[in-house]
Amino acid sequence: MLSQSNSGGRTICQRCLRYIRSTQRYISHQETWTSTKIRKAFVDYFKETHDHQIIPSSSIIPVKDGGTYFTNAGMNQFKPIFLETVDPHSKMAGYKRVTNHQKCIRVGGKHNDLETVGKDLYHHTFFEMLGSWSFGDYFKEEACTMAMELLTKVYGLPVSRLYFTYFNGDAKLGLQPDLETKNIWQSLGIPQKRILPFYMEDNFWDMGKTGPCGPCTEIHYDHTGDGTGVHLVNRGSPRVVEIWNLVFMQYNRQEDSTLSNLCRQHVDTGMGLERMTAVLQNTESNYNTDLFSPIFEAISKETKMRPYKGLVGEDDTGGVDTAYRIVADHIRMSSISIADNLVPNRAGLGLTLRIVMSQCFQQAYKVLGMSQGSVSGLVDVVVDSLGDAYPELQKNNSKIRNITKETEKWYTSLVSSSETAFSRFVKRTASKREHKHISVEDMMNLHKGKYGSKVPLNIMQDIALKEGYSMEDVAFQEARIQEQHLVENTEIKNKLKLDKNMIVSLQQRGVPWTDDSFKYNYTSVEGKYEFLDDFNGIVLGLVDSRGFVDKIGPDVQSGIIVDKSIFYSEGGGQAADIGYIKTELGSFRVEDVQTFDGYVLHLGNVESGNLEMGETVSQVIDQEHRLGCMRNHTATHLLLAGIRKILDTNTEQAGSSIHKDSFSFDFTSHRKLEADHVSQIEDLVKASIQKNDPVKRERIPRDVALEMEAIVPLRDEIYPSHVYVLSIGNSVCTDDNLMSKELCGGTHVSKTGDIGDFYITSVIRANQATKRIYAVTGQSAEQVLKTGERAQELLQKIKSGINDRDKLDDLLECVEELNSMFGLVMPKTMRDQVYSELSPLSNRLSGMESERLAANAQQVINKEMQAQKNGSFVLCRSDLKKSKQVIKLFVISVKKSNIF
Ligand code: SER
Repeated sequence: MLSQSNSGGRTICQRCLRYIRSTQRYISHQETWTSTKIRKAFVDYFKETHDHQIIPSSSIIPVKDGGTYFTNAGMNQFKPIFLETVDPHSKMAGYKRVTNHQKCIRVGGKHNDLETVGKDLYHHTFFEMLGSWSFGDYFKEEACTMAMELLTKVYGLPVSRLYFTYFNGDAKLGLQPDLETKNIWQSLGIPQKRILPFYMEDNFWDMGKTGPCGPCTEIHYDHTGDGTGVHLVNRGSPRVVEIWNLVFMQYNRQEDSTLSNLCRQHVDTGMGLERMTAVLQNTESNYNTDLFSPIFEAISKETKMRPYKGLVGEDDTGGVDTAYRIVADHIRMSSISIADNLVPNRAGLGLTLRIVMSQCFQQAYKVLGMSQGSVSGLVDVVVDSLGDAYPELQKNNSKIRNITKETEKWYTSLVSSSETAFSRFVKRTASKREHKHISVEDMMNLHKGKYGSKVPLNIMQDIALKEGYSMEDVAFQEARIQEQHLVENTEIKNKLKLDKNMIVSLQQRGVPWTDDSFKYNYTSVEGKYEFLDDFNGIVLGLVDSRGFVDKIGPDVQSGIIVDKSIFYSEGGGQAADIGYIKTELGSFRVEDVQTFDGYVLHLGNVESGNLEMGETVSQVIDQEHRLGCMRNHTATHLLLAGIRKILDTNTEQAGSSIHKDSFSFDFTSHRKLEADHVSQIEDLVKASIQKNDPVKRERIPRDVALEMEAIVPLRDEIYPSHVYVLSIGNSVCTDDNLMSKELCGGTHVSKTGDIGDFYITSVIRANQATKRIYAVTGQSAEQVLKTGERAQELLQKIKSGINDRDKLDDLLECVEELNSMFGLVMPKTMRDQVYSELSPLSNRLSGMESERLAANAQQVINKEMQAQKNGSFVLCRSDLKKSKQVIKLFVISVKKSNIF
């Protein structure tokens, strides 16, 4: 309970009084509430006066949600607490009262504001949520009291400008009105006329179709100042806006929409920083605040465009202010996303980012007259404004600028290829068209790339307008929605899984998390590895497409949970183990293994018999497959160490895909990776393999690991109390010695020598910022080396015989074989060398072949002429013509090519 004293009719705690007095002294020295002060005052209030712990904002890309949606509320990172699935050993399990300011993006998913941004004065794709939470600690009364104190005493808002809403119940769900909250507001001195009831749509909060939810009470601010705002509450009016939402999480919504009680009651509050800043900076527009004005000023300085005036709708002639808002909003969104390692690309959230950035460039170039490259200049302004609150912006400033610049280039070339496709479409369909109109079918054809390049819908709309074509507006909107769905669905895996409700159900049944530590139980002696075999476990869960079942049989994809597992589940880029789970009467082929909140699900098919709940099973992994993955996983660590040493010490890993025979490794660095770098990196990795460096895995306390120099933790990862640190190499660092220390839960070989051979086979650009290296190890490396050596042998043969015309046929065969080997995997350094040398040699050989053919043709003609002189005809007319043609072609090619 709060310790309370009486203050002006309302109770207020002593610590609050002291805090408020000091804050007011502080504020009275300041001219205005800057957004920085507002952010700080919020978290400080909860920390100083009510013992809340300040938690950093989580990444904008939730790690745990399959990467399909952005973080859209402060509560996202705390979902495991609400769902009671939090790892009891993690830091999070100890959270009782916390507060923070969280980066949020609402594009895609249930809360999607992309299409509204720019049109009004208070929607954003990126915004900040100031939040406070009680996890099973205080509830409604304390939450409302704190909100009142902060709003009226710290921020100094008069109650006469505030409305308080509460949940008025739902008959269908059997939920009563939340009169408790209503009474709390009354007891805090709020006049009855300011406390308003609303139903599910407004006063019941959930984050999606399923999951934690509960009634909420919202606080709205009345900008009218004359008390007329009461009718505008929850009407979408900019004059009365919701500033704070206090959610009382007490239910979990199931798949069938019914509500079950959460085990503990929690408070989840969220205040929109942009709206609160507008209120305290005395404006009705979020965009007229210090969060946006520096960006507007930078734009108008860059373009000489008139300054931002804050007009909307028809008043905003030419859409100038709308464009200002879109560009400012979107550049904040993209900068924040890139700082959290998202890059614009062709799938999932990367595609969403690309769409947002395209809209930003479109408005910047078309309406505001900015030039290509100048949008990236706005990144510095965003970093200045938000960098103190989110240091990752400062750290990644140049990366964000570079990626934005690259994406601007990409967008410009997209517009130009779209224009070409559009003129092609106009030409090809001219004869059929009566009016300058684009039908839905035309739109979809242009969109799908029928006229050479895919034309995105928003670019199509611009070109159509410029060229005087009309378009189907409704259909356009529909197509946009389809496009959006495509974005949202790209990443969803079509696999059996354990959803949140299934996890809750397992926990309620007391099923313990799977102990899969046995995946690490293997030994090696001089390169010979021994894994656990025929390892026993008990079936604790069986799943098929219907959910949990008691028995699984053949022909349906199913999943098995056992108490103990030796299988490695996909993670850290490493592919899952494959193998078998068997009983005396049944055999299940494991094709994939995934972990869901501590439960390991073995996915596959029953090949014979049945498997039943409670049975004892024996587990066997495919050891060749596992060992291959281990070799390749250790090699990725060496590769990263090599890249950091040769190319760029700041290189960050951006992903990996590790399999039995090969792996790919993604990384970000703005330094160009030259052919020389590739061979030096490869040599270093090979040298470490040659030295047979020890590979050590240690389980140590998280806090010790995170303090270690050289360890770069993932910013948003919530690490358990103990983590694995993988070290390779001895502690002496010399120029030709690789050392590596990484947090890694993967499985690895014990000595680098067990990797066998190693080759980088190719390097590509995965997207604007990420480079990808493909490599092979072990027997695959031996195989690709053989391919490379064969290619070199053929090249050598050609080089040494090139001046010997008698060998021409042999050499041409060598060229043919080399050309057919082009698609084969071989060491990149060998490939580069062979094919760059082959090109001039092969031209020369073709020339020699043409010359020989021409000489033969000439002989034929000479013979024929001789025969004619003697009065006989040997050749028919067409053969003679052919021979002449061969000679003619040869003469032309000689003139053109300078071969000889
Ligand atoms: N989760 C609630 C919201 O997003 C309160 O934080 O509004």
